[in-house]
Amino acid sequence: MNSLGVIRVNLLIMGPPGAGKGTQAETLAQELQIINISTGDMFREAIRQGTEMGKKAREYMEMGELVPDSVVVGSTRERLSQPDCARGFLLDGFPRTVVQAEALEDMLETMGIVLDGVINIAVPREKLLERLMGRRICRNCGASYHLRYNKPKVENKCDACGGELYQREDDHEDVVRNRLFVYYKQTAPLIGYYFAKGVLREVDGARPIAEIFADLQAAVSGLPVAAPH
Ligand code: AP5
Ligand code: MG
Ligand code: ZN
Repeated sequence: MNSLGVIRVNLLIMGPPGAGKGTQAETLAQELQIINISTGDMFREAIRQGTEMGKKAREYMEMGELVPDSVVVGSTRERLSQPDCARGFLLDGFPRTVVQAEALEDMLETMGIVLDGVINIAVPREKLLERLMGRRICRNCGASYHLRYNKPKVENKCDACGGELYQREDDHEDVVRNRLFVYYKQTAPLIGYYFAKGVLREVDGARPIAEIFADLQAAVSGLPVAAPH
């Protein structure tokens, strides 16, 4: 049982590039004792290992385009069927198209589970460029920092593991601009999609990290899954 008093909870966290999905998802998943699955992290790991999927994903990611649905859906299905997802999951960065959202519905139906909630972290476009270009990532554990808003205690070193910090290849300005364009065109329509299903919760992401986290906790504890049975 987790802090919501339930055995299993299945959630999505959505938002534009730089909204703070990864920053919040990691802590939230820990608190709820569920697995945090980021499709972006999955692809970066596949690229690092030089797998076939990594090779396919790389050509799209470095241009800031979406990896084709067929690649993403297959790998996410496989990940969700792993035993460590039995207590639930928090999906960050999937689905990103209506085709992916429909495929997720099919997957969950086959697995006999439901989606308990979708949280959208809303951040105005003008803040995103600065967040992404100032982001630094730990080469060792993947923790995310920001040169201005979330500085490591020691310059260029990860607080958690001491690893070296680097800038993601797709955080350079030209690629960031395309990622934002792609987001508004292909992913933003999912906000309406999940609103219509009655599972959407909006959180204002243009505030300090700790305040957003408090809102996320409140949003999650207000979900039907958390209501006393
Ligand atoms: P992915 O890695 O998921 O990138 P993204 O969606 O563009 O989102 P980011 O990870 O850039 O941002 P975030 O919201 O996690 O923000 P973060 O917490 O780091 O995907 C990368 C690529 O993979 C895609 O472009 C695509 O090619 C491919 N891909 C992945 N999934 C796919 C799918 N389903 N279908 C097809 N292709 C797919 O925060 C950003 C920065 O801001 C950090 O520096 C952080 O410290 C800082 N920050 C966070 N919160 C705050 C705050 N409240 N105030 C100030 N600064 C903050
Ligand atoms: Mg992320
Ligand atoms: Zn680290």
